[in-house]
Amino acid sequence: MKESKLKPQKKLEGMRVMILGIDGYLGWTLALRLGSLGCEVSGIDNQSRRRWVAERRSHSIVPIENMENRLQAAREVLGIEIAYRELDLLDRSAMQDFIQEVQPEAIVHYAECPSAPYSMLDAEHAIEVQRNNVLGTLGLLFIMRDVVPEASLVKLGTMGEYGTPLSGRPIFEGVFPPEATLHWDDREWSLGGELTPRDPSSLYHVSKVQDTINVFEACKWWNLRSYDVMQGVIFGVHTDQVSADPRLRTRFDIDECFGTVINRFVAQAVAGIPLTIYGTGGQTRGFISLEDAMQCMTRLISSPPEAGQYEVVNQISGTRDIRELAEVVNRVGKDEFGLPVVVQRVENPRVEASSHPFEPIYEKLPDQFGFESTVSLEEEVHRTFELLTQPHVRDRILEKSDLILPTTWWSGDQRLVETIEVL
Ligand SMILES: NC(=O)c1ccc[n+]([C@@H]2O[C@H](COP(=O)([O-])OP(=O)(O)OC[C@H]3O[C@@H](n4cnc5c(N)ncnc54)[C@H](O)[C@@H]3O)[C@@H](O)[C@H]2O)c1
Repeated sequence: MKESKLKPQKKLEGMRVMILGIDGYLGWTLALRLGSLGCEVSGIDNQSRRRWVAERRSHSIVPIENMENRLQAAREVLGIEIAYRELDLLDRSAMQDFIQEVQPEAIVHYAECPSAPYSMLDAEHAIEVQRNNVLGTLGLLFIMRDVVPEASLVKLGTMGEYGTPLSGRPIFEGVFPPEATLHWDDREWSLGGELTPRDPSSLYHVSKVQDTINVFEACKWWNLRSYDVMQGVIFGVHTDQVSADPRLRTRFDIDECFGTVINRFVAQAVAGIPLTIYGTGGQTRGFISLEDAMQCMTRLISSPPEAGQYEVVNQISGTRDIRELAEVVNRVGKDEFGLPVVVQRVENPRVEASSHPFEPIYEKLPDQFGFESTVSLEEEVHRTFELLTQPHVRDRILEKSDLILPTTWWSGDQRLVETIEVL
C-alpha cells in the first residue's frame, strides 16, 4: 500500500488567523470561509484596491458594501465576528501593535497590488506597486521575527513569477527536486533543493519574486515558517458564504488593470462586446476557481510548516490556453444563456511568448494537503454568468464596458489595441 504523504492537520476551530488585505477579492472570501469554520478571524486593509480601481475610472461590477456593512452582514447572516482594523501594512508601528494584541497563529498575506498592467503604466505606478508590495512584505517579516516568530506565514505569490521557461522544462514547486542535475563541461551537479530560476512577466511579477527571496531568507535566518503560494489566475464568484447574501458578495473587476481573464470574458459576453484574445491566444496559464482556492488556503492554514521551513506550493487546478478559455465562455454563454457571443483576436500589448511549452508541477497541494478540486471551469463560468446577467450587475458592466479593452503597452505606449481578426 502506498504510504500517505498527508501532513497532520490542526483543528481550525478557535485558531487565530489574521488576513492582510481582508477587503479584497480573495481576502474577504477567505475571511468568511475561515469564520464559518470557527477560526478567530482578524484582518487589516487600507482600502487601496478600491482607490486604485476608482483611479482607473472603474468599480467592482458586482456591488460591494463598505467594510462596516460587510462586518455587520457577516455577523447577522453567518454569525461571524471579525476583528477588523483599517491599516496600511507599511505602517509598521500600528501593524506591530495589532499583531501583538491579536497574537495570530497564522497570517495570510494578500495585501499587495495584484495588477501587471497597473505596474507597467509608467514610472509612478511601477514604483508604487513595488514599494507597496516589497516593502510591505519586508516590514511584516521583521514584525513576525520580533512579535510572533512561531506563527506561520501564508504568503501569496503568483505562477507568473516563473514565466514560461525557454527550455520548456517543468515548472517545479519553487525548488528543483532531489533528482535534478546540471550537466556541463563533462561534469555533473545535483540541483536538488535550489530555488529554480524566475522570469517574471511584468514589474508587478518582479515585486513577487523579490518577496520570494525575502521570505526564503527570513525563514533561513530567523527560523520563520512560510508557505509561499504560487497561485494561478482565479476565476468565479461563488462560495457558500459570499453567495449567502448580496451584502456578503466579494468584489469582481473587469477593467484592463484589475480584471482577470475569465472574469473579463464573461463580462464581455454579457455586455454584448467581443471577447478579446491577445495575440494568438496560445498563451497557456494555470487557473483555479475561487472555491478551490479557498479550499487550498484552508488546508495550508490547518497544516502549518515547521520552524525554519520555507515551502513553495503551486496552487492551480489545471492549465488552459486563452483560446480554450474563450471557447468555454463562448459555449456556455451561447448554449446556456442564449447570448450572441463573438470572439476576436486583438494585438497583444504585453511582451510574452505567444505559444510555448508549459508544464507546471502541482502535486503538493493534493498529495500533502489533501486538496481535491470540486469545481469545474464550465460550472463556475455558468455561475458567473448567472450573477453577471442579473440586470443591476449587467448595467454596471455596460457603464464601464469601455474600460475592458487594453490600452497599456509593455513598451510604454498608451493606445487602444487593434483588432486582428474576428473568429
Ligand atoms: N486574483 C488572482 O487571480 C490572483 C492570482 C495570483 C495571485 N494573486 C495574489 O493574491 C493576493 C490577493 O489578490 P486579490 O485578487 O484578492 O487582490 P485584491 O486587490 O482584491 O486584494 C488585496 C487587498 O489588499 C489590500 N492592500 C493592498 N496593499 C495594502 C497595504 N499596503 N496595506 C493594507 N492593505 C493593502 C487592498 O486594498 C485589497 O483589498 C495578491 O497578493 C495577488 O497578487 C491573485
